[in-house]
Amino acid sequence: MGDEEAPWWRHAIVYQIYPRSFADSNGDGVGDLRGIIERVPYIASLGVDAVWLSPIFLSPMADFGYDVAGYTEVDPLFGSLGDFDDLVATLHDRGLRLLLDWVPNHTSDQHPWFAESRSSLDNPKRDWYVWRDQQADGSPPTNWTATFKNVPAWTHDALTDQSYLHLFLAEQPDLNWSNPEVEAAMHDTLRFWLDRGVDGFRADVVHLIGKGDDVEDLPDDQAALPIISVDRAEGHERLRRIRALLDTYPQEPMMVGEVNLFEPGVTASYLGEPGSDELHLSFDFRPIYLRWDAAAFHDAIDAIQREFAEPHWPTWVLSNHDLSRHASRFGSDARARACAVLSLCMRATPFLYAGEELGLTDAVVPDDRVVDPAGRDGCRAPIPWAAAGTPEEGHGWSTRPWLPFPSNAATNAVDAQDGVAGSILELYRRLTELRRSRAVLRVGAMHVAPRQGSLLRFDRSSETDRVTVLVNFGPTPAAWPDDVVGEVVVRSGDGGDRIVAADEALLIDTAAGAPD
Ligand code: GLC
Repeated sequence: MGDEEAPWWRHAIVYQIYPRSFADSNGDGVGDLRGIIERVPYIASLGVDAVWLSPIFLSPMADFGYDVAGYTEVDPLFGSLGDFDDLVATLHDRGLRLLLDWVPNHTSDQHPWFAESRSSLDNPKRDWYVWRDQQADGSPPTNWTATFKNVPAWTHDALTDQSYLHLFLAEQPDLNWSNPEVEAAMHDTLRFWLDRGVDGFRADVVHLIGKGDDVEDLPDDQAALPIISVDRAEGHERLRRIRALLDTYPQEPMMVGEVNLFEPGVTASYLGEPGSDELHLSFDFRPIYLRWDAAAFHDAIDAIQREFAEPHWPTWVLSNHDLSRHASRFGSDARARACAVLSLCMRATPFLYAGEELGLTDAVVPDDRVVDPAGRDGCRAPIPWAAAGTPEEGHGWSTRPWLPFPSNAATNAVDAQDGVAGSILELYRRLTELRRSRAVLRVGAMHVAPRQGSLLRFDRSSETDRVTVLVNFGPTPAAWPDDVVGEVVVRSGDGGDRIVAADEALLIDTAAGAPD
């Protein structure tokens, strides 16, 4: 597909903001929408094209917003609908798009729908959730385990002596997507935000909407973690209807789905066949769980490129609010810097998690500050805007924030890196600028070279341009491939002439040496 015809989301770099931790405008220690508005110039300076906000909706925050008590209300902690409209306008003025995080599989137990559903066996909304009798011996209706706490995915409710299904916390009851009223109500929540001008959605664990109230026992290994097992035809049908709705809007809304499935080809199958009539984009989390190893990355990248060949298009996501940050997960600044090159040179729509451009590490969270039930606080630490501060206070936040700062907040704060040659922030900016100015990086074909020891190599090419990427995952310098001839445009480390240093990534302009 030529550069010009490609839809916007193939060209885009998406920047994920975790609103609680981004910027605090009202001094309550929690980030908010006005805080984001104040930082739009910074966001624009990164050279990204779209912002995805983790949930901002009304929520008791048992799962920090992924438990929604009102899909069309902004939680007062984050601001008002007026603030939201201002944010949309401010982003759009800068040519930036906005994606919201839509949580279709479950609501909060405080959602009025669930309050009604739970109130009696014959309430009209009883069937909006998945209710079942316990088994005769008192055990839960099926053998499913909930994510996070290793407890049954069913909680007994004394009021009506039945149990409800929740694949996550008990405070997150699963909606019954086989009820057409639920589907219609959830479509309305999409329309509400589309009418207010949003450009699309990240859809939380969206494959799970394939499930309704027809759940049965699973084999033991699947029952232990049903969220990575549910893959049903009904999910695809429901996504087609969502896509039809999105397609009626003039802003060409995009939906990227979190599809937590790992069998080859399955994430791509959620784009629909042929072409794309389901999700526009689908996260593939195979790379996110890898250790720092050339063979492992080679195989995952190669598989994703093959499975998402035209007419499909892949995403690239190496971090988010659920997993340890690059510098902590892979263990060094050098590797975090190499991840920048890897992420921004791929044939894919890159998703960058705010703070990765600063090379942040996870926060060390003392036991008495732990708030997340699933141990994910470290990667959700507040963004340090200023170098001055302690692990608990300062760094551009007027009040002690809800979580401690990342352990490298002082050295890696925004004001310590802004405009500083050689900083990881400036490395990210250079790469986004190149991706913008050099179409081959956005839409060029990608060829992953066969495995070569510790060196990963891939080439991006179009009829008129060509670049080569080398990433050395090994602990010693790697041999330079003889047939890579050209100028090094970006290097993440400090290797020398025709040397790829340990943990270094290079972008090389090989156009001059490209065959005609
Ligand atoms: C997704 C989110 C995660 C959340 C879960 C339940 O995996 O990324 O943060 O806890 O869904 O909504």
